Amino acid sequence: MTDKKASLFDSISNSYDKFNHTLSLGIDRMWRKKSLRHIVGLKNAKVLDVACGTGDLSIELIKQGAAHVTGTDISEGMIAVGRKKIESKHFSQQIEMTIEDCSAMSFADNSFDCITCAFGVRNFTKRKEGLKEMYRVLKTGGQLMILEFAMPQMPIIKQLYNFYFKHILPHIGKLMSGDKAPYEYFYNSVKQFPQRQLFMQELSDAGFTPKHFKVMTLGIAIAYYAEK
Ligand SMILES: C[S@@+](CC[C@H](N)C(=O)[O-])C[C@H]1O[C@@H](n2cnc3c(N)ncnc32)[C@H](O)[C@@H]1O
Repeated sequence: MTDKKASLFDSISNSYDKFNHTLSLGIDRMWRKKSLRHIVGLKNAKVLDVACGTGDLSIELIKQGAAHVTGTDISEGMIAVGRKKIESKHFSQQIEMTIEDCSAMSFADNSFDCITCAFGVRNFTKRKEGLKEMYRVLKTGGQLMILEFAMPQMPIIKQLYNFYFKHILPHIGKLMSGDKAPYEYFYNSVKQFPQRQLFMQELSDAGFTPKHFKVMTLGIAIAYYAEK
């Protein structure tokens, strides 16, 4: 059975990058960069970038010293945009992209030095299975970094952000892509995602040793770090 998330992301794949960079005023690029700087032993690592989408984190991984990146995603549309980008930026030697559902990946146990996932985990239909699969294919002693959206916790900022995210953002999304639904989904998925200690507990339940998390930009994004 096809995962509904594949068709959802197929439908926005051509506007995904524009939407990301415009609405975040480019801050999403900074989040990806910063989140990678705190990974231990990234230099020369063989990395699996789960839910790589259009490949921005995969490219940043190579720029920050990884030897090779395997990017995987469930959406053919997102991967197609990513492959074009990688070719145009001359990263095809270091980055390969394949279609994989994170909840049942084709890689052997203990295959990668490091696993990353930016803004992907919140979208997994089977999150528990996805995290367990990441654990299985990561080498013992390997590092995991998960970057996700979160809701700010500071009073006033929390209310303002919630209002913008719930009531304004879907309208901007509609103007840019013609459809409000993916952006309403975006709000709900962030709202429902467990953050901070709750997500650290999920990492522990999947077998990882959670290390720490780094809150960015008033708590709109959080990078989680764990080890196998
Ligand atoms: C918000 S995008 C993030 C893309 C990219 N990592 C980035 O930083 O922009 C979420 C991605 O998760 C992918 N995804 C959702 N469910 C998945 C699954 N079960 N297995 C693999 N990828 C999945 C989607 O296709 C989409 O490309």
